[in-house]
Amino acid sequence: MRILSGIQPSGALHLGNYFGMMRPAIELQEKGEALYFIADYHSMTSLFDAKERRKHTMDVALDFLACGLDAKRTVFFRQSDVPEVTELTWILSTVTPMGLLERAHSYKDKIAKGIAPSHGLFAYPVLMAADILIYDSNVVPVGRDQKQHVEMTRDIAIKFNEQYGETFVIPEPQIRDEVAVVPGTDGQKMSKSYGNTIEIFGDEKATRKKIMGIVMDSRTPQEPKPDADKNLAIQLLKLVAPPDVTKDFESRLRAGGLGYGDLKKALFEHYWNYFAAARKKRAELAANPDFVNKILSDGAHKARTLAQQVLQRAKVASGLA
Ligand code: ADP
Ligand code: TRP
Repeated sequence: MRILSGIQPSGALHLGNYFGMMRPAIELQEKGEALYFIADYHSMTSLFDAKERRKHTMDVALDFLACGLDAKRTVFFRQSDVPEVTELTWILSTVTPMGLLERAHSYKDKIAKGIAPSHGLFAYPVLMAADILIYDSNVVPVGRDQKQHVEMTRDIAIKFNEQYGETFVIPEPQIRDEVAVVPGTDGQKMSKSYGNTIEIFGDEKATRKKIMGIVMDSRTPQEPKPDADKNLAIQLLKLVAPPDVTKDFESRLRAGGLGYGDLKKALFEHYWNYFAAARKKRAELAANPDFVNKILSDGAHKARTLAQQVLQRAKVASGLA
């Protein structure tokens, strides 16, 4: 089984990225042949600063390696180090119906948020389809918001196969239901673009401030709270604390007597401890960028070899070769 996923280098990684994508991806390394990449071409649709792209690309590499990506087992690379993917994007775009792209939620959402509607942003799902299809991927672990993109990939692959004969493997999305959407500090989906994130490797003081600043309702600590399970801090605590600890806080909140400040303090402590080992590893890696770059270039070399084979298959099928 070949597993593939990508993440854009568009900012510091947060708990939503970690629980929605990174952790499932890291766990899946054991289950098959995994390829993970940093989607720097995709980031060009919404990030227009070269320096930032370079910095975020390194940050994502460090974050992934620190959180347990095993470069001996997994092919880890930068998307743009495999330029074949852009050639396949063109080929796929010729069988991609306009209507399919026009229905993309993510395109509409991004425009609504004020991102300039460029051709690249519109064609984003076709590049993503090329990413997935060029490695004969079977399984694509992503957060719920990316499900439609994987479904579009399937449609595009089926279309190509119908037109030119069996060429591409049809991939399956893999969504982690229990942590499908991690809420941010304002209760909406945690996202860089909403400014409501808790970074995985955030600065201690700043993150404490963010967590302590989560706005709750005005009920007094003594008041029983029958809706304790819906409390935002409880939901986040569930991710970073052992189940019995979360249960205990939840029942104290439900019964009354637990103040929101104490709950948020506990949330910070558990969050901080949860990532303690990874934080240490990240600092070591950050001090050794040559080592990290070597991992990425070795990964690119392996990925490219696979990509060239599938691209050639598509070129032969469509009469380009
Ligand atoms: P952001 O919304 O912060 O820009 P991205 O869109 O770059 O995050 O998402 C990167 C990966 O992390 C995707 O696989 C996405 O599904 C997952 N992800 C992002 N935010 C969340 C969230 N709040 N809950 C679960 N998964 C998420
Ligand atoms: N679009 C994905 C995101 O924003 C990133 C991505 C690009 C991706 N290509 C991919 C994810 C291929 C899975 C497979 O999160």
